[in-house]
Amino acid sequence: MSAPSTATLYADHLTTLIERATTALARGGFDHLVIPSGTLHYQVFDDRDYPYAVNPQFKAWLPLTRAPGSWLVFTPGARPKLVYLQPRDYWHVVPGTPTGAWVEHVDIVVIRKPEEAQQHLPKNAARCAILGEAQSALGRYDAYKPNNPQAVVDYLDYHRAFKTPYEIAMLRRASERAVRAHAAAERAFRAGASEFGIHLAYCQAAGQDANELPYTNIVALNTHAAVLHYTERDRLAPDPLRSFLIDAGAGHAGYAADVTRTYAHDTGSEFQAMIDAVDTAQRAMCDQVRAGVDYARIHLDAHLALAGVLREFGVLKISPEQALETGVSTAFFPHGIGHGIGLQVHDVGGFAASDTGGTIAKPDGHPYLRLTRTLEPGMVVTIEPGLYFIDMLLDELKADGKGDAVDWDRVDTFRPYGGIRIEDDVVCTDGAPVNLTRDAWADLAD
Ligand code: GLY
Ligand code: MN
Ligand code: MN
Repeated sequence: MSAPSTATLYADHLTTLIERATTALARGGFDHLVIPSGTLHYQVFDDRDYPYAVNPQFKAWLPLTRAPGSWLVFTPGARPKLVYLQPRDYWHVVPGTPTGAWVEHVDIVVIRKPEEAQQHLPKNAARCAILGEAQSALGRYDAYKPNNPQAVVDYLDYHRAFKTPYEIAMLRRASERAVRAHAAAERAFRAGASEFGIHLAYCQAAGQDANELPYTNIVALNTHAAVLHYTERDRLAPDPLRSFLIDAGAGHAGYAADVTRTYAHDTGSEFQAMIDAVDTAQRAMCDQVRAGVDYARIHLDAHLALAGVLREFGVLKISPEQALETGVSTAFFPHGIGHGIGLQVHDVGGFAASDTGGTIAKPDGHPYLRLTRTLEPGMVVTIEPGLYFIDMLLDELKADGKGDAVDWDRVDTFRPYGGIRIEDDVVCTDGAPVNLTRDAWADLAD
């Protein structure tokens, strides 16, 4: 049997959104869901705009990522309506005529000026749940100012963790695009390119400019890999070249991929062996993405596995259990094991206890974990263990009297390489996990 078409998948996705929105409105006591796509923002004392970022609530409904000033209106029992801004403008490219599988499911009204949207919104603004940012407000006294009712947002955020088959198909395409670009980035690294050069090679292969990518590329050579969110781009390559960490994604129809790989320049080196050990551990963590598993458990198990790697390589002198208990492992793995991913790289609802609110706490001592829910089919998460040699955190270990747990000569051996992170996007199913990122690498190799 052939796979369902994008048109069929989208139609089913829309049915799910309509069901969710209908319940969310009932929960909040509203009659209409109204979602502005967002507006352009300008730099202070300047007429230069920041890159436009579409309201994620808007692109959940329609694969439109570049349509500022538009609105989505949904009233239970009626078809969704798009109020679509196509300004008369000869300075900029105007959003084009809507095309694609979604068009036949939506009533489209074209407007030429942002304020014309108001006449196409429900008459009584007080009956609308308006989801967006304050700057999108329209009408006299900002009557149509986003009110983001908690009950509505809680319901939608909680359920957004469960991706529809359409969304998983879009996430798969985003991963494929990212992986293609990762392969080009590795080639640029092997050819001796600078961080800036590698970044350009990545964008070229992804077919996406920096502003279109779902997050700022992290392209780090040597010790820069120890800066978790390293977003500088040196114009010259260091000499000698030792290591390369790249955390870079891609977008497809508004959905994100988030992928990290680490490479040793000398593939016969001990650092390469450490990368291989982290890779093996990471695959085992990906295999834990199964229905009923507490995601925080994967995070804590990752600490044990990574501390095991450090011990194997002679960096730690204590057991993985002791490393976790005393907080020593946190100095080397100071971020969370991952997060939900979808319309947003760091997707919403990571701590949601239910669709009526409430929070699932993070384990003590692990403030950077972004997801504490129990995994269920349809959830898509990243698995991104890392090991880093970060001077600031290592100095703190010593200052806290935990220095004896570490062989500092071994730290000095690995410090020039910065660190390792390996990150995949993984779907939880009712059976074995589906690794979108590894699937894409495998397809590339075919
Ligand atoms: N690229 C950001 C992250 O991995 O969460
Ligand atoms: Mn991530
Ligand atoms: Mn990442």
